[in-house]
Amino acid sequence: MPSSMYFDNAATTRLKPPEVAKAVAEAITSFGGVGRGVHEASIDAGLTVYAARQKVSNMLGGPGPKSVAFASNATEALNVAIQGLLKPGDHAITTAASHNSVLRPLFRMEDEHEVNVTVVSIGSDGTLDYDELDAAFRPNTRLVAVTHASNLTGDVYDIARLAAIAHDHGATIVVDAAQTAGLVPINMKEQGIDIVCFTGHKSLFGPQGTGGLCVAEGIDIEPLKEGGTGTHSYDRRQVSFMPERLEAGTLNAHGIAGLLAGVEYIEKKGVEAIHDETIALANRFEEGVRALPGVAVYGGHAGIGRTGIVAINIGACDSAMIADMLSTAYGMCTRAGAHCAPLMHESLGTSNQGAVRFSFSHFNTVEEVDAAIAAVAALAKELA
Ligand code: ALA
Repeated sequence: MPSSMYFDNAATTRLKPPEVAKAVAEAITSFGGVGRGVHEASIDAGLTVYAARQKVSNMLGGPGPKSVAFASNATEALNVAIQGLLKPGDHAITTAASHNSVLRPLFRMEDEHEVNVTVVSIGSDGTLDYDELDAAFRPNTRLVAVTHASNLTGDVYDIARLAAIAHDHGATIVVDAAQTAGLVPINMKEQGIDIVCFTGHKSLFGPQGTGGLCVAEGIDIEPLKEGGTGTHSYDRRQVSFMPERLEAGTLNAHGIAGLLAGVEYIEKKGVEAIHDETIALANRFEEGVRALPGVAVYGGHAGIGRTGIVAINIGACDSAMIADMLSTAYGMCTRAGAHCAPLMHESLGTSNQGAVRFSFSHFNTVEEVDAAIAAVAALAKELA
């Protein structure tokens, strides 16, 4: 086990429940292909994947196991949703808080497929003006693609309010829950969300290479990939039913076994408990560094909550240099630079400097957080 202090959980959680590694190790030596055989190895894999669909749907307040299609991460899921819903002539809305996994597919649709895109601005304090978003709709707006929480500031946006606005205008809402699934409660039915895209390797505690999308009833997404599903092999085209419509090729059942173990751990502990423990650590860190001379803290004003992220800068120092010093001198893992969120950095005025992102998990300890505060204080004294 590495000895460094790990504060890069918004990229990938490194501390996982031990059941996750055990589940992957067992699956990799026992599973066959899901839906590819009538033998025990294939059936075991199929039952595990079905259980994972069921538990993910439960966790997200989705319509049931068939609504969950697996993908390799939230990026792939977002590409499936965005490219599979938009047609030439459509208009789509997103916000400057979006990650490139939302922005780049939208901009490609704009450049190559006659789709128009409006990016609603984010204030320099991280806030979204919901009225500005409401005013961006056009008669041909088909899609609103928004992040549940910024991967730079950790600010949580009000997806129930965004869903209500989208539906008032007859549009579909896709939520990027990469930073929130398993950490911030989501209920698709209660919040009126059409599609939630999630990743396995962050706060669901699964392995990298897992993720997917949960789709409300009545929404048809054109498949991005076509190929074998193990069913209806004589049909010329991809099957029309979920989840196979959005899953071509052998699934990563080994990874999904780990994802299932992660979701079961969360189910047992409770999303609310994980949330509260994580946020207590993030708040402690933020309170510890906010008052330090020369330290800037970003976001924190979106209004309806936060994740375990605290993004900072020290004076005018390049964020990559600070992250490197935190790693080499203090044994602390953080993430610097642009975080694949270029428009959010523009909004915050940090495009040149980037930001040093600390992202905590409930597996971190108060002692680690206090060590991080002390490290930032020492660096600020030396450099700011
Ligand atoms: N999107 C991930 C992050 O924010 C990788 O670090």
